Amino acid sequence: MKPLFKGKHFITLQEWTKAEIDTLLDVSKQLKHEFYSNKDTTYLKNKTAFLMFFEQSTRTRNSMEAGLAQLGGHATFLDTSKMQISHGESAKDTATILSSYGHGIACRNCFWGVGNKYLREMAEHSTVPVMSLQDDLYHPMQGLADLMTIQEVFGETKRVKVSIIWAYATSHKKPISVPLTQILLFPRYAMDVTLAYPEGYDLPEWAIEQAKQNALDGGGTFQITHNMEEAFRGADVVIPKNWGSWVNNQSDAVVDDLLESYKSWKCTEEMIALGAPNVKYMHALPADRGNEVEDSVIDGVHSIVYQEAENRLHTAKAVMAMTMGDK
Ligand code: CP
Repeated sequence: MKPLFKGKHFITLQEWTKAEIDTLLDVSKQLKHEFYSNKDTTYLKNKTAFLMFFEQSTRTRNSMEAGLAQLGGHATFLDTSKMQISHGESAKDTATILSSYGHGIACRNCFWGVGNKYLREMAEHSTVPVMSLQDDLYHPMQGLADLMTIQEVFGETKRVKVSIIWAYATSHKKPISVPLTQILLFPRYAMDVTLAYPEGYDLPEWAIEQAKQNALDGGGTFQITHNMEEAFRGADVVIPKNWGSWVNNQSDAVVDDLLESYKSWKCTEEMIALGAPNVKYMHALPADRGNEVEDSVIDGVHSIVYQEAENRLHTAKAVMAMTMGDK
């Protein structure tokens, strides 16, 4: 397998053309098939990548670590609190040195106003591809897996009605990067996208403008509502998920009066019943069960969250296989 995008940074899918994303999806599907067929997939034999995490992770860390092992390479997990970063070492020095030791650098840094800039600074100084494992603005690995899952379920994505809906949660103040990535990506695939959220949970204005432009360019549509039920009505896919009020309020506090006033924004069986008869429930996970969603929905027949999570493995492998190669 040729690394067709050798050296290309993977920080936002907005910087990847549709043809390039289609190739990543084709490779993901091939790798999924080969995984189930127990085929040798050592396309990155002896290649190494460093996985830097400023935050917790289950899916992202393990899909990357397992994925690179399955490709014949090795991933080193780096807890940044144990690195010299915690003593102030710069992104430039970290990236320059790690890139001299291996073939890829991946990083999760979701600090508001910091994460994306940090990844960009590393990319500027790295001689190997820098892959985002989520930042304050984007989660491209998640977006790619979500798109793969929707394609698997629906085939043609044109006119698939997808609603990205804010939901109440108290587990932590979640980044905006998942919904922001989805509103940018799905209209490029001609989906009819609705973004629903209560007042105060806006996404950045530049992202809304970009989503509208992507819809114009890609044949999709994009609309915003502040009415939760309207977003569920007739939807083929619902993605009810919490995100923090970062755009309007940069406090790290998880629970505040604004959040508590929107407890009713929950994905219940009644809400699912408003969707298309075969509506699919998606969530990047981890879900705040009982707050964002009722157990009977996430564990029910409409839920495809485990397929979505599994596809994180196949898409992560595709990104690594296509961007990492011989030095
Ligand atoms: N969806 C996702 O990124 O999961 P983790 O936070 O567990 O990596």
